[in-house]
Amino acid sequence: MEPINKIPVAILGATGMVGQRFVQLLARHPWFKISALASSERSAGKTYQDACHWLLEGNIPAEISKMVIQPVQPTLDAKIVFSALPASVAGKVEPTFADAGYAVCSNASAFRYEEDVPVIIPEINHDHTALLSAQWKKRGWKGTLVTSPNCTTTGIALPLKPLHEAFGINKVFVVTMQAVSGAGYPGISFLDIEDNVIPFIGGEEQKIETETQLLLGKMEGNLRLPANITISAQANRVSVKEGHTICLSIGFAQKPSQEEIISVLENFKGIEGTPNLPSKPKQILIVRQEEDRPQPGKDRHVNNGMSVTVGRIRTCPILDYRMVTVSHNTLRMSRSVQS
Ligand SMILES: NC(=O)c1ccc[n+]([C@@H]2O[C@H](COP(=O)([O-])OP(=O)(O)OC[C@H]3O[C@@H](n4cnc5c(N)ncnc54)[C@H](OP(=O)(O)O)[C@@H]3O)[C@@H](O)[C@H]2O)c1
Repeated sequence: MEPINKIPVAILGATGMVGQRFVQLLARHPWFKISALASSERSAGKTYQDACHWLLEGNIPAEISKMVIQPVQPTLDAKIVFSALPASVAGKVEPTFADAGYAVCSNASAFRYEEDVPVIIPEINHDHTALLSAQWKKRGWKGTLVTSPNCTTTGIALPLKPLHEAFGINKVFVVTMQAVSGAGYPGISFLDIEDNVIPFIGGEEQKIETETQLLLGKMEGNLRLPANITISAQANRVSVKEGHTICLSIGFAQKPSQEEIISVLENFKGIEGTPNLPSKPKQILIVRQEEDRPQPGKDRHVNNGMSVTVGRIRTCPILDYRMVTVSHNTLRMSRSVQS
């Protein structure tokens, strides 16, 4: 029996790579009930099973497969919309939903850098929702718009947050090895990526640098002050289906010992007041001691894809310490805005 008071939610871009994760996760969510699906003109009017090329493990949830896809218009029967639209489309339609009174939780980058739009990872900066009062004042919307960060930034900002709080970080050098599913569906052609590394992902390096500063920033009243950390990122696409691997070199204001780094990461429970959300993992950051971990093939699904795994923590002859992280690009991402 379903609880009676589930909140009705819609998914925009429901047929895409991230939209499918939303469908999969929301179909069994304790608080939400999928009440509408919306996608492009190509899909609108078709049933979900006819329009969607399902790419995830298992089947389309039975109660969703026959739902008819609607156009992306702010007339959907829902209170919250989870947006998995391309940024170019999101930029036009998400404000129309917020204006009509929906709470818009977006995975797209279109509004991430606006000063009145929170970019949220609940465990590290849920307090940035204080920006919403400035958003209401500035935009006059009846609803709201919050965003999740880029999928790569998540595997960087989550482990950096407790380290920054404890020891102060002033420099970070980042090299990413990003999964092909991060490019959406159909994404990159097999012939381009098989047996290959592509050392360019449009806009990604700038996103990593800016979003990490925003996420690690502090609220002062209703103003968000980005963290004063110099970040240099190099982004690469590699032949892995899911899970981004990230190499970090970190310079600290107060250089900690290796044991202190491990202890801070393992004991991180989220910043003060982190809500006990249904998908919050018991262990947010998992530290592996083996010399060859983390690996996306072995670590991306840990705690349902909600934990970030950190390993290879060692000193760095250029900055202070080096480490490697693995995080799931679609599971962690879409849940961050679902709670
Ligand atoms: N893939 C990831 O790991 C990842 C992670 C984090 C964030 N994101 C972000 O999440 C968003 C979605 O990414 P994705 O990888 O899921 O992309 P995708 O697989 O290409 O899916 C795009 C979705 O948007 C719909 N759509 C496209 N053009 C539209 C239009 N003009 N009007 C209405 N709907 C339209 C598509 O519907 P049809 O099927 O009907 O064409 C599809 O449902 C992007 O902003 C991306 O940057 C992706």
